[in-house]
Amino acid sequence: MSSNKHSFTFIDLFAGIGGTRTAFEKTGGRCVFTSEWDKHSQLTYFANFGELPHGDIKAIDENNIPDHDVLLAGFPCQPFSIAGVSKNKSLGRKHGFEHRKQGNLFFDIARILLAKKPKAILLENVKNLQSHDKGNTFKVICEILNKLGYKLFIEIKDAKQYVPQHRERIFIVGFRKDIYPDINFQFPKIPTKTKKIADILEENVDKKYTLSDILWKYLQNYAAKHKAKGNGFGFGLIDPEKDTITRTLSARYYKDGSEILIKQKGKNPRKLTPRECARLMGFDDSFKIIVSDTQAYKQFGNSLCVPLVEAIAKQMIKTMDSVKVRSINGQTDNKTQELEYVQNQIEKYKTGVDIEEISPQIRIPL
Ligand SMILES: C[S@@+](CC[C@H](N)C(=O)[O-])C[C@H]1O[C@@H](n2cnc3c(N)ncnc32)[C@H](O)[C@@H]1O
Repeated sequence: MSSNKHSFTFIDLFAGIGGTRTAFEKTGGRCVFTSEWDKHSQLTYFANFGELPHGDIKAIDENNIPDHDVLLAGFPCQPFSIAGVSKNKSLGRKHGFEHRKQGNLFFDIARILLAKKPKAILLENVKNLQSHDKGNTFKVICEILNKLGYKLFIEIKDAKQYVPQHRERIFIVGFRKDIYPDINFQFPKIPTKTKKIADILEENVDKKYTLSDILWKYLQNYAAKHKAKGNGFGFGLIDPEKDTITRTLSARYYKDGSEILIKQKGKNPRKLTPRECARLMGFDDSFKIIVSDTQAYKQFGNSLCVPLVEAIAKQMIKTMDSVKVRSINGQTDNKTQELEYVQNQIEKYKTGVDIEEISPQIRIPL
């Protein structure tokens, strides 16, 4: 593998609007399969990549997925995020691996890995994945990936190193141990210069993005009430002349924009425009936004930070190119017993039986 044009292939699972794809294409990869079930994201994906993603991953037979070198999956984070956990709890729903609909989508990744055995993987999730269910969810994920034959390298990276936004995500990079027995991966180093929030703001912004008096008053009252109770941070007001980075852009930004409001002289603050959100996630201005503002906010709030993923991608390819590769003639030397264990867990997932609790002594390589 090398980073020359189209020198490796990848699949883009839980693709969103293709932030990860953009990063891996910039690194010389060619996408051979995409899955994303949200209709609006599919439209944005089609407008930008000329391909309509396949839908629900649960309905896709792993044997119909083309062979590929790298599997990419920023799998849904709601069941693992703090907001998701408390919302599911308050609604009496299960969460994490018990969240039958979404949380166990990791097992769809596992069944694809078992069938296709790509050389490398990049998985992404919210930082809270590590502590969910007292760390058990994360242990299961690492254990399954280990048993599938991957050597893992895990790090929490903050997008603020690349774009003017505080956005911490956990990245799990894995390489097949049988192909790269001596591999040692280092996450990319922090770049020295990053953009400030003022660098990504548009000059002429439509007045529809300025908060109404009613909404601005409501947000201020809400923040004051919570401050008095000693909880919550309320809204996040950015002064572009002083502040450099924003809070994390979330998929719920469309509701009131409260997490990132831009201070304006002589006017109420305003929300970011969809183009500014695109820039905040590191998309070039050539990226087409063809959906409503509401959908665009959801899509960018769900996205990965492109330049951060690009830096990780470059490092992955460079590392694979620089180490000794063992010829394996299409075979893996994973122990049959371990693969049977994974197969067993996947079967349980498919049939809705609870996933086994994992032994507490398993240590996570962090
Ligand atoms: C965190 S976002 C992924 C961001 C994306 N990887 C990127 O590069 O920007 C997770 C995505 O998974 C999609 N998704 C959730 N469940 C799915 C399923 N069962 N099948 C396919 N896509 C799904 C969601 O619609 C959402 O767009």
